[in-house]
Amino acid sequence: MDKKVTVIGAGNVGATAAQRLAEKELCDVVLIDIIEGVPQGKTLDLTEAAPIEKHDASLTGSNGYEASKDSDIIIITAGIPRKPGMSRDDLISTNMGIMKNVTKEAVKYSPEAILIIVSNPLDAMCHVAYEASGFPKNRVIGMAGVLDSARFRAFISMELNVSVENTHAFVLGGHGDTMVPLPRYSTVAGIPITELLTEERIEALVDRTRKGGAEIVGLLKTGSAYYAPASAAVEMAESILKDKKKILPCAAFLDGEYGISNLFIGVPVKLGSSGIEEIIEITLTEDEQNALNNSANAVQELVETLDKLEKESK
Ligand code: APR
Repeated sequence: MDKKVTVIGAGNVGATAAQRLAEKELCDVVLIDIIEGVPQGKTLDLTEAAPIEKHDASLTGSNGYEASKDSDIIIITAGIPRKPGMSRDDLISTNMGIMKNVTKEAVKYSPEAILIIVSNPLDAMCHVAYEASGFPKNRVIGMAGVLDSARFRAFISMELNVSVENTHAFVLGGHGDTMVPLPRYSTVAGIPITELLTEERIEALVDRTRKGGAEIVGLLKTGSAYYAPASAAVEMAESILKDKKKILPCAAFLDGEYGISNLFIGVPVKLGSSGIEEIIEITLTEDEQNALNNSANAVQELVETLDKLEKESK
């Protein structure tokens, strides 16, 4: 393939993302993990599936970063996932150290790459990767909104018994309990769901979306969701690799947009070959803007926790 994507973290999300990238023949894939044998074993297994799945993407597993040289995109999933009872924020101190290390290593070999961050707590991990990479803001993008809106879409489709393909959903804000699903911009075949569902039913779907990650952690017990998170990261990668210029909700570094500065938070962006090509600003009602500000405050608190942890580690 003429494109190359490195996925760091060969666990549930990383290996599933590698599989989807290869099976869609989007690029060659390098899978990196700290555990010896795991990325090599998983990529060999995926390579042996290729004749049946009918793709010619090459898959390489490694514990070092040399193989990742000159990647177009680096997807970072390294870190620990949640267990029941944990919030995404509980992962912050462990995942901060991992994110810093893997970002520094990866960018040495791929200084022009676009980073897609998946590890949680997502918005805070974007800040860590942004600082550790020294990359411009258009090349550091967080995966959260595509996942949150896919969950909302799945619930809308189940509720109305319509094709998921007819659904669009709009979710702003941080990847946590304060995320802001926007029903008036969420549609079925172009019809706002506010025309199709009662306020109570919409609120129930919004609530399930907010708690979508926790619902799966509660069922799996030993880890967190990975099929949908991997699909979401791959949709973002596809838009970049093919320069499709899809408008997708992603965590982006805001510089005054939506009245928010110096913070990664979920907003609609245009994704093309140079990464974030535009941040789309829409007019929010007072309630929606308040909800977004509330979400931004929650992310800001996490960023302050990062600063505190950083100082303590010195
Ligand atoms: N370098 C490379 N890989 C690492 C490192 C490191 N320094 N530290 C941990 N890893 C690897 C682990 O060895 C493991 O294989 O990251 C992988 C994480 O995989 P899982 O434990 O299966 O977790 P997963 O479900 O994939 O979630 C990964 O994404 O959605 C988020 O909250 C989730 O933060 C979590 C991340």
